[in-house]
Amino acid sequence: MRLRYTIGGSRANEIAASIEHGILRGDLPAGERLPPVRALASRLHVNPQTVASAYRSLRMRGVLISDGRRGTTVAVQPALAVRVASMLPGGVRNLAEGGPDPALLPDLEAVTSRLKPRGRMYGQPYNDAELLRLAERMFAADGIASGPIAIVGGALDGVERVLRAQLRVGDRVAVEDPGYHLVFDLLKALGLNAVPVPLDECGLLPEHLERVLRRGVEALLLTPRAQNPTGSALDRTRTAELRRVVKAFPDLLVIEDDHAGPVAGTPAFTVNEPGRTRWALVRSVSKWLGPDLRVAFLTGDELTIGRVEGWQRLGAGWVSNLLQQIVATLCSGEGTISQVADAAKAYQARREALIRELASHGIKAFGKSGLNVWIPVAEEVATVRSLLHAGWAVAGGERFRIASPPAVRVTISNLQVSEANRFAADFARRLTLRQTVYGA
Ligand SMILES: Cc1ncc(COP(=O)(O)O)c(C=O)c1O
Repeated sequence: MRLRYTIGGSRANEIAASIEHGILRGDLPAGERLPPVRALASRLHVNPQTVASAYRSLRMRGVLISDGRRGTTVAVQPALAVRVASMLPGGVRNLAEGGPDPALLPDLEAVTSRLKPRGRMYGQPYNDAELLRLAERMFAADGIASGPIAIVGGALDGVERVLRAQLRVGDRVAVEDPGYHLVFDLLKALGLNAVPVPLDECGLLPEHLERVLRRGVEALLLTPRAQNPTGSALDRTRTAELRRVVKAFPDLLVIEDDHAGPVAGTPAFTVNEPGRTRWALVRSVSKWLGPDLRVAFLTGDELTIGRVEGWQRLGAGWVSNLLQQIVATLCSGEGTISQVADAAKAYQARREALIRELASHGIKAFGKSGLNVWIPVAEEVATVRSLLHAGWAVAGGERFRIASPPAVRVTISNLQVSEANRFAADFARRLTLRQTVYGA
């Protein structure tokens, strides 16, 4: 095996740093296989233990992945800021990103021109009182158990803060499989172990979850709607079943990631019932107000939120009040409410059009909620490549999966209803599909 990059060093920390440099510069890309421990040790004239120790430290920080079959590889999203952007050929429609349609986000200029910014000083209340009231009302309207509310920098920031506040290196966390790849990578970077639980269009499969919980996990992380990548969403029946399952594990920390909020297109159900000892729910505005207004409302039990806020004060301190005021002004505007409702309808129309058009070619796809549609395929790489030739960029499913079967993810946020037909025809023409049911 020949690498484009020469790993150097004679001590474990030098070897690890050399690998990190290679990754940072883009010379060791995601998925690149590193030499076996003995081979590298022999080239560097060091003890195999030294190389093993370098690999281990990078694994624990989520930079490398070890998998018996494939050896040691560079993580898909290493916990390092890699300074190489992936470029799409000109003229390709990008349906791979997972974000909202900029045309469906509220107009920021209209809000900022009305704003009278009030900058905060040290020692003043950290959060905007109006924004906290809005969050409280929003949660109450959705029947979400009332707990203290923290303002954090987005859904992922909220999830990370809760994990850091409550878990320790080596703890096991039950996650949806397929699931959001950044959550998988975040868990690795925190030294936590993801335990996959399959799901269908209504969310986690209760009997599988029960089995996993019985084997012992510290926390459960789930997406109640707009599940990424499958578009699954809880309904009333599944919510009741999952509540019954988690009730039998009173010490389990249950974290819900409602990253898409009102543009998910399905109601807000929650597995967390009032009185649960350890729980958290985070609702972000990224998908409905815009990713650059990355603010999220985090609620949960008193101890979890207390720890999160205590830790927040030691580092970032608080989320800028200028940002909080913009979000509060947007959230309370009548115009925004109807605009967000229209965006949810537009995403629903786009999801349904794509699923319908694919079905007309005999292709089964999933996407009940949110911005993505998940299409099981026999071969992910071949599918992604052939669609790219046809002018469509979609995301290969590999980074979203742990034990579930192959698929590709299509972000429908920018896919117009009128284009769904052409996409489905191109998909059908270029593929030999093996139909699988995810979560089975
Ligand atoms: C499941 C899930 N959680 C969290 C996020 C990120 O949300 P935020 O931008 O609020 O951190 C995403 C983004 O797509 C997501 O799919």
